[in-house]
Amino acid sequence: MHKTAAAGRYKVETDLGGSSRAAEGAWLGLNNYKRKRGQPRTLEQYKEAGFRILKWDGLETITLTDKQGIVFGVLCGQPPDSSGKTWAETCEGVTTALRQAEADLDFNGSPIIPEMSKEKAKNAKNRRGKFKTASMGVSYGGGQKIPAEWSHTEENQRVFDTLKSNPDFTRMVNWAAMFAYYAPRLYQDYVDAFLRLQQNQPELQLPIPGSIFSAISLNLGHQVVAELHKDFKNLAYGLCHICALGNFDAELSGHLILWELDLLIEFPPGSSILITSALISHGNTELQVGEERYSVIQYTAGGLFRWVEYGCRTEAQFGKEKPEEAARVWKERPERWKEAIGLFSNVSEYPKCSK
Ligand SMILES: [Fe+2]
Repeated sequence: MHKTAAAGRYKVETDLGGSSRAAEGAWLGLNNYKRKRGQPRTLEQYKEAGFRILKWDGLETITLTDKQGIVFGVLCGQPPDSSGKTWAETCEGVTTALRQAEADLDFNGSPIIPEMSKEKAKNAKNRRGKFKTASMGVSYGGGQKIPAEWSHTEENQRVFDTLKSNPDFTRMVNWAAMFAYYAPRLYQDYVDAFLRLQQNQPELQLPIPGSIFSAISLNLGHQVVAELHKDFKNLAYGLCHICALGNFDAELSGHLILWELDLLIEFPPGSSILITSALISHGNTELQVGEERYSVIQYTAGGLFRWVEYGCRTEAQFGKEKPEEAARVWKERPERWKEAIGLFSNVSEYPKCSK
């Protein structure tokens, strides 16, 4: 069901390659989303503001393309039932495991972000919303001198290890491999970057064997509604895999908001979406009373790709140790966005497209 030829297509009137939406060098996104007063929050408010709604049953695979046909997102749908287990049973297993993880984790300190109180919301660490986040895997940035695995207390590490050995969780994480079908060049870029990183630091491992992304964040707290944000530290021309879980009516709540595209996407529990999370501000519409929503996010930091490209060193070290090479790279920077966009697929490259 994930064959590219069978996918539907939803075209958005935007031009991804027209001008760079990334910070200089095209490694990171731009942190230029500003929350506005009077911004819509509910489905009704978004409708009134003129947002279109992409209805989605969570089953069909649909590509999101710009007007040139560049595939910048995929509504992944669900894998076929296998191994004697339906996908719905797998998702129920993951949801149960997340509830348990939330109960067992100690939420004092990074990279575990506590739920915000209303009073502290303004200054709280989790700018993505009023929920708890726990992260695992390899990252780089935010003051780290070299790429490293997030370190946890012994107790929290045990919780992560339990989750990582849960077959439902690993099945769900590996569903992100859909990425390979819809953006094979970009997928290969991720593979190559991590292999090069491991050649330099063999101790670094992907969070789950077979993962394509180096990091996983668990959004916990029963009612995960992401505020509009950009994950500008993710690879600017990369993708991020979001899996929605829980129990909510996707026609009425929990939509994925793609702010600059004036678009809401119905996002049922058990389904997943790949989007360019560093480029497009995104979030969710509010849930109804009594509904439950969790999400599992997979991504890779842009700084990690930059580190690898510069020979496993910082930009400053690169400039100092390889001045001639660095001068050439700096000179080519303005063109790098176009080059990076070439890693995405165009629907014209697929054998055929049904819509
Ligand atoms: Fe995000």
